[in-house]
Amino acid sequence: MKKPTWTNAVVYQIYPRSFCDSNGDGIGDIPGIISKLDYLKDLGIKIIWLSPIYKSPQFDLGYDISDYYEINPEYGTMEDFDRLLEEAKKRDLRIVMDLVANHTSNQHPWFLASLDPSSPYHDYYIWKKGKDSNGKKPPNNWTSNFSGSAWTYVKEIDEWYLHLFAKEQPDLNWHNPKVVEEIEKIIDFYLSKGVYGFRCDVITQIYKESYEDGKGHFPIGRGGEHYLLSEGNHRCLRKLYDDVYVRYEDHLVVGETSGVTPAQGEAMIKNKELDMFFEFDHILHDSYSLVWPKKLNVEGFKNAIFNFQKNVSWNAPYLENHDQRRSIPRYGSEKYPLESGKALAMFLLCLKGTPFIYQGQEIGMRNIPNNNPRKSKDVCIKMLYNILDRFPLLPAIKRKILNQHDRDHARTPMQWDDSVSAGFSSSDKTWLDVNPNYKQINVAIQQDDPNSLLSFYKKLIHLRQQEEVLHEGEFAEVPTKGSLICYRRVLSQKSMLILINLSEKTHTRPASLSKICGKVVFSNYPDSDCTSSLDLRPYEAMLIDLE
Ligand code: NOJ
Repeated sequence: MKKPTWTNAVVYQIYPRSFCDSNGDGIGDIPGIISKLDYLKDLGIKIIWLSPIYKSPQFDLGYDISDYYEINPEYGTMEDFDRLLEEAKKRDLRIVMDLVANHTSNQHPWFLASLDPSSPYHDYYIWKKGKDSNGKKPPNNWTSNFSGSAWTYVKEIDEWYLHLFAKEQPDLNWHNPKVVEEIEKIIDFYLSKGVYGFRCDVITQIYKESYEDGKGHFPIGRGGEHYLLSEGNHRCLRKLYDDVYVRYEDHLVVGETSGVTPAQGEAMIKNKELDMFFEFDHILHDSYSLVWPKKLNVEGFKNAIFNFQKNVSWNAPYLENHDQRRSIPRYGSEKYPLESGKALAMFLLCLKGTPFIYQGQEIGMRNIPNNNPRKSKDVCIKMLYNILDRFPLLPAIKRKILNQHDRDHARTPMQWDDSVSAGFSSSDKTWLDVNPNYKQINVAIQQDDPNSLLSFYKKLIHLRQQEEVLHEGEFAEVPTKGSLICYRRVLSQKSMLILINLSEKTHTRPASLSKICGKVVFSNYPDSDCTSSLDLRPYEAMLIDLE
């Protein structure tokens, strides 16, 4: 059997609202995406993942779907989407959609119908009576992943509905076979149109095993032990494979699986629930301090990624996405933006699996400077704002906390050139402000510069696709301490070593590594060499063919 396309591919994530606006309304759209397909092809991309483009009131910017069979009018029409599929096909590009199946929008006709307890749609969602006799207490103490109670009361019918995110995102009831059928129908609809697969949103929490109180006092996501990775969750995912995916030979299903361990993820791959999954361990090594970003702990960051590289048969490594802060200020350095951006590109693109890059990562886009979370478009920040207002915190501290978690940082419009709105839109009013650094950081400048981050990504992606050992080889850790990262990719007699100094200081290679040598085939300094010097300069990264 032919190997799936994803075994030798880099995936590029598009956040449609912020990628390219073709009609000057300040919002990205599908014709805009079509106009940039040649750019992606040239970059070496084979698969595109589109964050949700379905009809939605945009409360959570598309992760709240009100019609799975319609395109959000701000982004275009179903005809535009069909044209996108056609144009992508012409260029041998595949499109992966976002499958948001844990919840819908509260504007979805199913939910509106479910407000009537006698409707068959009532059982499409999770409706419960309140805990105490007068029903004024929620059915349990679960909290939403966006903070606050996970239940909302509807007076008219004296019942509560569950939402593990905002109240505008009611959870579907996966115990109801009708719901499973509906989701299968949606998957089949798009696969039969020629869509290549799905990135499955919060896919480890769709099936709630019980509704008992959750443990602990943590105000976010309490109750997870009653649904995360439940047996029923596994059954549901396997059923989607048996009923639908199995009929499409080459396809991709990637799961968003917060909290998953390597063993749990591997079991899901082996059981054909997913082809690969996004782990969340590596992001815990700097950001999750509540107020100030912590300094990156390189060893922890590296070990988290290595843990999945070593123990999972196929990985989906990533550094950025629409929920994460930008990677250069986070894992790299503002003092060495180009060197660290390239070092991170090498770390990511030489790993085992199917690497995912996020729009703008290839040109080193940054977080919003002097961000004012009061203006945030992120529903999570709006909710957190209200919660924090209940505490006597200094405004400066409040602002720090909110800024730290604001997902707008990753969602500013793509910076194409130095014209109005960075070439993202012909309008100077965009749904989210363009980062003021667009005159220095944009595609047009970098495209003509052989030393730019964009050119580096391009060369590296092509190299990865040509070198069998880089896309097929096994992963082997080379133990190091501190800010050095070292690993090998091995395929029969061929072995390549990746050596990275992820710090602002020069590092002398330890004795254990000093003898390793070969031909430097790729690096981020023009004169990297592993024979004459044992020093690794700030963020120096090299790919060495051990021959
Ligand atoms: C994960 C998505 O990546 C995020 O953007 C969204 O807010 C939540 N799931 C809820 O759908």
